[in-house]
Amino acid sequence: SNPTLTLNDGRAIPQVGYGCWQIPDEQAPDLVGQALKAGYRLIDTAAAYGNEVGVGKGLRESGLPREDIFLTTKIWNDRQGPDAAKAFEESRLKLGLDYIDLYLIHWPCPQRRLFVETWKAMIALREEGKVRSIGVSNFTDEHLAILVGETGVTPTVNQIELHPYFQRTDARATDKTRGIVTESWSPLGRGQELKDPVIDAIAKAHGRTPAQVVLRWHVQIGCVVIPKSANPHRIVENISLFDFELSDDDMKKIDALDRDDGRIGPDPATFC
Ligand code: A2P
Repeated sequence: SNPTLTLNDGRAIPQVGYGCWQIPDEQAPDLVGQALKAGYRLIDTAAAYGNEVGVGKGLRESGLPREDIFLTTKIWNDRQGPDAAKAFEESRLKLGLDYIDLYLIHWPCPQRRLFVETWKAMIALREEGKVRSIGVSNFTDEHLAILVGETGVTPTVNQIELHPYFQRTDARATDKTRGIVTESWSPLGRGQELKDPVIDAIAKAHGRTPAQVVLRWHVQIGCVVIPKSANPHRIVENISLFDFELSDDDMKKIDALDRDDGRIGPDPATFC
């Protein structure tokens, strides 16, 4: 089973999804197909990943009813502003879908000051029924305050870098206060944190893998989590999370792994 969380627009999002960053377009049909077979129903891609064609092919070839799948894609930085509706249409056509479940602003790019205009375009796409839910990625609370202040529309999700060495306690708290679901990207710290002795000890105690422990930690802190794997065994492993539970003590030990220098990806204050 793959439980869902309820978004602030009333829609349900599966809590564990398949992340398509760094999946080559030509491998995407097969890997997305394997993920769907393993039970994933949330598939996360982006225009910038260069694999929307392959991901769409994988969705269609699965034979699953469209309404059973929750597909996320994202607008890339250079298409923000007046170009946003056109960029959406390009993504939609590449994916070969009538509608997208969740459309995200990939990065705020605060220096360009286009995210409010982009957000207004996304609100219009939702009103036209082309997108079911709208959200953001890599937004700080400062960016969220501007969006909500200028449009009155709160994003359903904020997808941010989040893993045991970079736990984003403040960002999670402010997202929650605003009624925004936090989604964790690079939830495994790109694989590095799986070697941590604390994680390893917890894994051994539960008879699980380090990746399952880290992903289960994301689930128990209330995040949506989208691990990427190009390996069929690890694809299955990464969604086999709902037949065990971490104790309060396990959770506290993982909480203590947070580091000041844990960020791996770019800083949203400057990246564009
Ligand atoms: P691979 O695709 O070969 O499985 P993140 O989602 O944090 O960005 O991490 C993705 C990285 O972690 C990839 O390099 C992926 O490699 C690796 N990875 C994904 N799942 C597992 C797993 N269950 N065990 C070990 N490594 C994993």
